[in-house]
Amino acid sequence: MGAGKTTIGRMLARRLGRSFIDSDHEIEARTGASIPWIFEIEGEASFRRREAEVIRELSAQRGIVLATGGGAVLDPASRALLAERGTVVYLRATVNSILQRTAHDRNRPLLQTADPRRKLEDLTAQREPLYREIADLVIDTGRPNVQSMVQTILDQMAALETARARKAKHRMNEQACTTLNVDLGDRSYPIVIGRGLLDDGALLERHIGSGGGGKVAIVTNTTVAPLYLEKVAGPLRASGREVVPIVLPDGEEYKNWQSLNLVFDALLANKCDRKTTLVALGGGVIGDLTGFAASSYMRGVPFVQIPTTLLAQVDSSVGGKTGINHPLGKNMIGAFYQPRAVIADTATLDTLPARELSAGLAEVIKHGAILDAPFFDWIEQNVGALVARDAEALAYAIARSCEIKADVVKRDEREGGLRAVLNFGHTFGHAIEAGLGYGDWLHGEAVGCGMVMAADLSRRLGLVDEASVARIRSLAEAAGLPVVAPDLGVERWIELMEVDKKNEGGAIRFILLKPLGSPSVNSAPRELLLATLEASIR
Ligand SMILES: NC(=O)c1ccc[n+]([C@@H]2O[C@H](COP(=O)([O-])OP(=O)(O)OC[C@H]3O[C@@H](n4cnc5c(N)ncnc54)[C@H](O)[C@@H]3O)[C@@H](O)[C@H]2O)c1
Ligand SMILES: [Zn+2]
Repeated sequence: MGAGKTTIGRMLARRLGRSFIDSDHEIEARTGASIPWIFEIEGEASFRRREAEVIRELSAQRGIVLATGGGAVLDPASRALLAERGTVVYLRATVNSILQRTAHDRNRPLLQTADPRRKLEDLTAQREPLYREIADLVIDTGRPNVQSMVQTILDQMAALETARARKAKHRMNEQACTTLNVDLGDRSYPIVIGRGLLDDGALLERHIGSGGGGKVAIVTNTTVAPLYLEKVAGPLRASGREVVPIVLPDGEEYKNWQSLNLVFDALLANKCDRKTTLVALGGGVIGDLTGFAASSYMRGVPFVQIPTTLLAQVDSSVGGKTGINHPLGKNMIGAFYQPRAVIADTATLDTLPARELSAGLAEVIKHGAILDAPFFDWIEQNVGALVARDAEALAYAIARSCEIKADVVKRDEREGGLRAVLNFGHTFGHAIEAGLGYGDWLHGEAVGCGMVMAADLSRRLGLVDEASVARIRSLAEAAGLPVVAPDLGVERWIELMEVDKKNEGGAIRFILLKPLGSPSVNSAPRELLLATLEASIR
């Protein structure tokens, strides 16, 4: 009351290019009566009801500067609406200055008393906490210069806006964390996906062996350890956990029993018991090996996956296949063993070499191509963002991939049939990997090329059209994957595909498309297979 809200409000509205509305004027316009008259005839309670109604309507408008009567805050609903819908500026005035400004104003029904000072002091005591409750800005109106007061409001509003935007962004970052549940009865577990998850030390702690005191053995490799080991181990140690770091040499060639034995050596040497949780920190090699170690150490200890490659985040960390290689075959020794949780921090992909990122995208494309046509469309539209490591695009691609894979695994955990569709592109891909010697092409690169070949074979069998093959080829290329197959010699090619472990009873079973977005398991006449090989090698 008497703080100058009409003058300041008008000027503020002009500066902001908005219209100015005074709720008292609005009430007078609607009732055709002056405020003192309404007070006199209807009483304060009735006036407050009219005021609350006007505020409810006006606060719903956007782009206005609204001045309310000094008593508007008395109504809790009005208070809530003002706080929620607007930026509330409390123009604070001292009792003295209000007295000065209202001395000769007969339009202030509440001040028509014998002792206006006393009345003002009472009003202030009653209303001040309510103003403060909803005020975004508190502006002292003692200064004579209205211009500078308006400028102060504008400056503080801008600062407030920036702070709000920052907060909203922060909230978004925090919320940009998706949790999926892999539904496998009592072996169900969450997959948490988001940027910066490793910064939240408590997240991992929540998924570590229930009993409390258990040790944590973190298995990683010489490449990943300098990047992320301390980030994971630090908070665990800080919360009183004993952490056993186990750092293996890096490479698929070390996914063998010697490395497995190094893990067991370290676990035993550090007296790790059955309450110890194994944490796999790294790509698919570390994940597969650590999972297998966890499945057999003391007949099984809990384990958590922290995948740090895109391939591991979209594929190998989900589904519970664990194992190591044997000199006579890849992934030949292993077990089905589910983790307690998968924590996929997309920020770890920042340090991933581009080739590895592309290799991971191959499995993402695979999930769309065999099981989700709309997702395939989405990947086509967003492949640029994915290659550029756009955090949001990656998080979505990972989440959708995990969903698709988890759904397949839920329906066929131990690869009775359906799960085999996840091998789309892999029969050709495995032949490339084996034919060139493992390590020449990355697995995902071989799968990328293999998918183009499988699509081509699908077309030759009349299952898809030429346009679908072209789409797969372009998408693989856009993802940075090779699409021209290595020339191993046609006979060698067929030989390699025949030994692929997914074959049963002689004929090679291919996972093909019928149409793009759904799988079809088929064998293929030799001449069509030869035609595909010749066309792919070019
Ligand atoms: N279990 C399954 O269902 C399943 C599925 C697909 C693949 N796999 C297995 O996964 C393995 C391939 O996994 P991969 O592609 O993750 O390979 P990988 O584990 O060898 O990792 C690739 C390379 O990236 C490095 N690296 C990992 N994280 C990094 C990071 N954040 N920054 C920088 N460098 C990083 C690794 O040290 C390695 O040099 C194969 O052994 C394959 O058999 C398993
Ligand atoms: Zn694969």
